[in-house]
This record gives sequence, structure tokens and C-alpha cells, in this order.
Amino acid sequence: MRRKIIAGNWKMNLKYDEAKVLAAAICEGEGTYRHDVILCPSFLYLTALAEILKGSKVALGAQNCADREHGAFTGEVSAPMLASIGVPYVIIGHSERRIYYHESHAMLKDKIDIALAHGLKPIFCCGETKEIRLDEQQENYVERQLEDSLFHLSEDDIQRVIIAYEPVWAIGTGLTATPQQAQDMHHFIRTRIAARYGRDIAERIIIQYGGSMKPDNAAELLSQPDVDGGLIGGASLKADDFKAIIGAV
Ligand code: 13P
Repeated sequence: MRRKIIAGNWKMNLKYDEAKVLAAAICEGEGTYRHDVILCPSFLYLTALAEILKGSKVALGAQNCADREHGAFTGEVSAPMLASIGVPYVIIGHSERRIYYHESHAMLKDKIDIALAHGLKPIFCCGETKEIRLDEQQENYVERQLEDSLFHLSEDDIQRVIIAYEPVWAIGTGLTATPQQAQDMHHFIRTRIAARYGRDIAERIIIQYGGSMKPDNAAELLSQPDVDGGLIGGASLKADDFKAIIGAV
């Protein structure tokens, strides 16, 4: 039985004090949480939040890392830097990075490799745009994303990756994939992993859903057999909403 992991991607939101208050509020409820919880704040707040989360089961993740290990890359934050402050998770390949910052499949492959080499666990995002879905090409598209950035990994390394299926058309739009659409794609992703790595490994990989997950749709999404948690944007910025999602199934 796979455990479910609920991660909050705070994106470029919250001032410092607001972030600390929200992290403390999420920690407070942890005795009642049945799922693993990860918070992904701005890089700037990671060390302060690590102090607040110390001793709790709520883990930290970064929202991105560089595709190089170190050097003259002004403004970048590297995987070894994140590892050096004890951050266990890093989101890689979010559609906002792909679209606004032109991150290619090859670049994301490098990020995945560097993150894993430094002991971080990547949360690898994939998912199609509205046009691709209207064209009914979503499976081909997601398969390409997996093949180009993930499927070079060894059997050991692929098991350290969380996959987040985030249809671009559902992110921040209020449009959510129906539970059946989410289940169909998660099942498809698992069959592709099985074809590459075998059934046992495929059954162990966590596949989260992201895209307008809210307290009122979380239970139905999370009860799908291949949906192993959520990657939550907007609703992770409100303690009550995020806690309701954590408690949903
Ligand atoms: P929303 O929950 O705001 O749609 O964002 C999802 C997301 O992009 C999480 O990474």
C-alpha cells in the first residue's frame, strides 16, 4: 500500500512573517494527519521554516534548483546548497518553470541527476496543456516528458522520485481534472513506469495530482487508486484549506 503525500507549493507568495505563521499552523495539526506533508516555500524562507518544523513530521521542499552544481550562475540556487541546509525534497519541472523560464526536457534531466546525486528527492512535474488535451495527445506528451527527463534513471534512483501529474489547464484556473481523468493519466503513467522498470517498482512510485485541488474535491481525487497525494498551489496558502485536504481521505 502506497502512502499518500500532500505537498504545498507556495510559489512566489507570502511575506516572511506570513510564511512562518502558516508553517506553524500546519505543524500544529500534525498529530491528526494521516498523510505525509511537505511544504515548499520560497528559497529565502527554508532555513527559518526548518527551525519551525524541527521535531515535526512536516518536511521541507524547494521549488526549483539549478541545472549546474556550482559556479558563475548569478541568481541560481543549486542542489548541493539545498542539501547542505538539510532540505529533503525539490520540485523539478513545474509547468511554470517550463513555460515562463523555458526549461527544456534536457535541462530538467540534468536537474534530476544533480538533485539525486546530492541526496535530494525530486518531485518531478509533468502534464499537458489544454491544446494538447483537446487534441487527445496528452498520453503521448506526458510519456515524452517522462522518457526525456526521467527514464534514463537506474532502478534505485527512479524509486527516489515522486511524480506529480499537473495538467497545465487545471493549474490556478479553478478547472480540475475529473477524478476519472486524473485516475486515467495516473494509471497510464504507472503503466509506462512498469514497462520501463517492471511492475514492482511501478507499484511503489508515488504519483501526486496537482491542479486546483481544494477541500471540496480532494476526497474524490485522493480516493482514486493511482492518485497518491496532491501537489497543492492556491489552497496550500490557507491553513484551514490545506489541513482539510490533508484530512480528506
Ligand atoms: P493550484 O492548486 O493553485 O491550481 O496549483 C497547482 C500547482 O501548480 C502546484 O504545483
